[in-house]
Amino acid sequence: MRPRFIQIIFIVFLVGFLTSSCSQMTGGVKVGFLIPASVGYRWPIDQQYVEKIAADRKIEVITRSAENDENLQLKQAEELLKMGVDVLIVVAANANTAAAIVREAHDYNVPVIAYDRLIKNADLDYLVTFEGAEIGNLMVNYALKVKPEGNYVLLWGDAGDVNALMIKEAQEATLKPSIDNGRIKIVYKSFTEDWSSDNAYHTMKNILDFSGEKIDAVITSYDGLAMGARKAIDEAGLDYDVILTGQDAEIAAVRAINQGKMSMTVYKSINTIAAASVDLAIKLAKNQKVTGVTATIDNGRKEVPTMMLKPVAVTKDNIREVLIADKFFTEEQVYGSN
Ligand code: BGC
Repeated sequence: MRPRFIQIIFIVFLVGFLTSSCSQMTGGVKVGFLIPASVGYRWPIDQQYVEKIAADRKIEVITRSAENDENLQLKQAEELLKMGVDVLIVVAANANTAAAIVREAHDYNVPVIAYDRLIKNADLDYLVTFEGAEIGNLMVNYALKVKPEGNYVLLWGDAGDVNALMIKEAQEATLKPSIDNGRIKIVYKSFTEDWSSDNAYHTMKNILDFSGEKIDAVITSYDGLAMGARKAIDEAGLDYDVILTGQDAEIAAVRAINQGKMSMTVYKSINTIAAASVDLAIKLAKNQKVTGVTATIDNGRKEVPTMMLKPVAVTKDNIREVLIADKFFTEEQVYGSN
């Protein structure tokens, strides 16, 4: 019996030691990161940045992806809360239903940071995002400068995402004078469910099959939509240049811009939003004073303290000075042969 007893004591000590050295290693802070989707979207890159920055700060992050399913995202939130996360960072799968995540988190006394996407009608603690109206304006202003007259198509993102709505509103307001004086005609405009590239392809294909009009600009709100539209344009074999915009500076889009198959994209530094969110999460977990709030955004329930970041337009002319200088891509990734 005696050696067995000693063995047990040893194991108890070992477990105690490991747990305490582990929590020293992670500063004891555990953060949950909920992303809305993975394959085909930017969010796995956000995950990489968030996890790398968290490792640098010696804290623990647990990530889950909801594959565009808001019910799954709520379950994932519950799972992470049960695992004892101190803070939840959420990219909402649906701005309107994610309030349930905030309620659930607050039941556990866990604060919620909305990452990139606002959560509506909720007692949300913080938002870290980019200026939505500015994103829409960068796209439209680019197009108006190159083609101040002509037929435009507007393909926005998912209507359940406040970012898609903000881009839409800004674009329509900026285009209004040119529409009113007849210089610009909107041939077609629509939201795109799940920001899906395939949906954008089918929409663009229908427009080209049925409208019969020359299209001067396709203002899409995201690179994946631009790639879908590009595919339809290529298949239709149009023999003229079409302005094509996007957002996110995805590698396929940046290479397409370099090859003249797309006109511009909007870069929102993932490194910046990831670092701001992780640092904010650490402060909230440790009950420290929060700095860096630059705005408030009305989410229907409250004025949410917001860290507002700046988006940047990227064209063929500034790929190096914006994306490569920021180490988002290497020369080889953009200009290499593969
Ligand atoms: C983000 C975009 C992203 C889109 C689709 C939006 O909420 O702001 O950066 O491309 O969702 O995932």
